[in-house]
Amino acid sequence: MDRWKFFDITHRDHIICNPSSVAKVDELVVLLDLPAGARVLDIACGKAEILVRVAEQYQCSGIGVDLSPFVANEARARAELRVPGKLEIVEQDGADFAAEPDTFDLAMCLGASWTFGGHAATLAALARWVRPGGLVMAGEPFWKKEPSPEYLAASAMDRNLFRDHHGNVTAGLEQGLTPLYAVVSSEDDWDRYQGLTWNAAERWAAANPGDPDREDVLARVRTAREHYLRWERDLLGWAIYLFRK
Ligand SMILES: C[S@@+](CC[C@H](N)C(=O)[O-])C[C@H]1O[C@@H](n2cnc3c(N)ncnc32)[C@H](O)[C@@H]1O
Repeated sequence: MDRWKFFDITHRDHIICNPSSVAKVDELVVLLDLPAGARVLDIACGKAEILVRVAEQYQCSGIGVDLSPFVANEARARAELRVPGKLEIVEQDGADFAAEPDTFDLAMCLGASWTFGGHAATLAALARWVRPGGLVMAGEPFWKKEPSPEYLAASAMDRNLFRDHHGNVTAGLEQGLTPLYAVVSSEDDWDRYQGLTWNAAERWAAANPGDPDREDVLARVRTAREHYLRWERDLLGWAIYLFRK
């Protein structure tokens, strides 16, 4: 089925489409301390809730990029309602986004590092667009402990897809970035992120008995639920990392 339709169904109730709580995002937004007239870039901005909160806090301008037409439309509507004229939302692959180097005060990518081929490559791409002294923010999962062969086989997950928490910070240090902060999601944050997808999918399936994708959506969400409860709740962490260039 269309991957954007699947994401739209499973994330319809999420305000923030990553496992951070709204309170933790707000804490981070205050810490950014952006200058007057700042320009902000958010690659894979989703519904742009985080970008909008940054623009509300600092009255800054910015660009949000997302490949999904569903979320790009929602992001545009949200931005126009809450920070009219401040944000441009572009529907495109983040990997194709082009801008002059050193032109943003903050560049972020939260929960879509595959766009650039992994966490380190994402940090490198974001850092290129940020002026010296500007901020790079990346949201990335990490292994809390070594994944078992049983889990890796069941999920078809590559062990090397993620690092541990220390490794995610070190990836920035290796590129000359200065770590400023990292906000880690709790089990409660993860449970909310995951649970909202179960709730949304089950309710959507009940309301749409004739949809051709119904069985596919339910099968995928129920398998993901099983993997989460059996393994990932103990195994996977998530953090948003803030660096200075
Ligand atoms: C986990 S969500 C995170 C959304 C947002 N950053 C947030 O934290 O609320 C991942 C987002 O990446 C977008 N996405 C996936 N692949 C992309 C790509 N190649 N270029 C741009 N956006 C992409 C999806 O549409 C989705 O909105």
